[in-house]
Amino acid sequence: MEYRIKDISLADKGKKKIEWAEANMPVLLSLKNKFKESKPLKDLVVGGCLHVTKETAVLTKTLAAAGATIAWSGCNPLSTSDDIAASLVKDEELSVFASRGVSTSEYYEDIYSVLKFNPDITIDDGADLTIEFHKTFDKYGKNIIGGTEETTTGVLRLKALEKTSKLSYPIVAVNDAETKHDFDNVYGTGQSALDGIIRATNVLIAGKSVVVAGYGHVGKGIASRARGLGASVIVTEIDPINALKARMDGFIVATMDEAALIGDLFITSTGCKDVIVGSHIEKMKNGVILANAGHFNVEISIEEINGMAKSSKHVNENVEQFVLKNDAKVNVIGEGRLVNLVAAEGHPSEVMDMSFANQFLSVINLVNNKGKFENKIYEIDRDQDLLIAGLKLEAMGIKIDKLSEVQNKYLSEYGEGT
Ligand SMILES: NC(=O)c1ccc[n+]([C@@H]2O[C@H](COP(=O)([O-])OP(=O)(O)OC[C@H]3O[C@@H](n4cnc5c(N)ncnc54)[C@H](O)[C@@H]3O)[C@@H](O)[C@H]2O)c1
Repeated sequence: MEYRIKDISLADKGKKKIEWAEANMPVLLSLKNKFKESKPLKDLVVGGCLHVTKETAVLTKTLAAAGATIAWSGCNPLSTSDDIAASLVKDEELSVFASRGVSTSEYYEDIYSVLKFNPDITIDDGADLTIEFHKTFDKYGKNIIGGTEETTTGVLRLKALEKTSKLSYPIVAVNDAETKHDFDNVYGTGQSALDGIIRATNVLIAGKSVVVAGYGHVGKGIASRARGLGASVIVTEIDPINALKARMDGFIVATMDEAALIGDLFITSTGCKDVIVGSHIEKMKNGVILANAGHFNVEISIEEINGMAKSSKHVNENVEQFVLKNDAKVNVIGEGRLVNLVAAEGHPSEVMDMSFANQFLSVINLVNNKGKFENKIYEIDRDQDLLIAGLKLEAMGIKIDKLSEVQNKYLSEYGEGT
């Protein structure tokens, strides 16, 4: 075991949090129980790069119970829970390279500490590890079987790599599972992004004009939760269909130029860059709050805000207040990094239960079918989605109807009409 973490004495606190998460992740727990005897991942190294949270800890424990050796780094400089990292090292004896507040160079050093284990499987969130792996594939790639990718932005990056024909091993796009993006991205980020904003600022959401940039899975969840808390929500979009959906879901749709004039709180969730730039900032009201829920810190141009500011200070741990040359104040949460992980605890365990069940089963599938996959991006099998949804419903004590023979026949034939 090797590690680089902040403080091992935080392990007891982390262990309690992991136990709390585990109690709320019944699907993953059932998979752990199913595979702990047969150990299908024995002698294999799983190299992970994914937010070190209590839910991720449950995933790493499940992989380890199935026999894997774990080497893990964080996938964002500000998202590691140091107490969780400590417990994974002290209590689970896993190799973890992560701490909150790493510099860019430390961040990449941690990724390389993982790659030095010569992974058989990679699990990534945002594709930083996978891209670095590709740069050093000759050195560390000798054992690779396949990998997975957790988030929309990572899948986009890897699909771009696939297009160049340079993808060196098969990747399962876990984000594309319905039991992932329709729940994690929507309900998980929807709730936890607001949670992060409230923990960081304690502002009243009711009565605010909240601008949500992007009405995809994440934006939809955030917009709905902000409305539920009493905000008037304005959505900005670039996709005409998603813009129409937002309008017909009852939100105002506007350009960012228009929304900049009326918003009190801005939340970006596009996966794109330069969504809020200087020309928007100069139109904004005094005292606005800016937060980002997209994967990378490129949606709000902190660089341009810095260039427009005459001073800045932290008004609390996660909020930096910039005073512009015209004396207007702009408050940025968590350096424009994903607000739900920087200022709160990330997604609730119940929703990560399904995302990480998808991760775990995708790893098992890659290992069981070693050599059969091409160097492509693969979608999750429909059967896996249905299995996870079924297990989740069962754990929630919910039964659903089954098609009768007559109904089955009716739905599979064309004869019966008016
Ligand atoms: N914070 C988290 O924990 C978390 C969780 C899941 C996903 N993510 C990240 O959130 C981002 C969005 O993910 P998603 O699943 O909602 O993606 P998505 O593709 O479903 O939605 C993105 C939406 O943004 C819109 N968009 C793109 N560029 C835009 C721009 N310049 N202005 C306005 N709208 C724009 C698109 O048209 C689309 O509707 C990604 O970066 C993803 O990786 C974060």
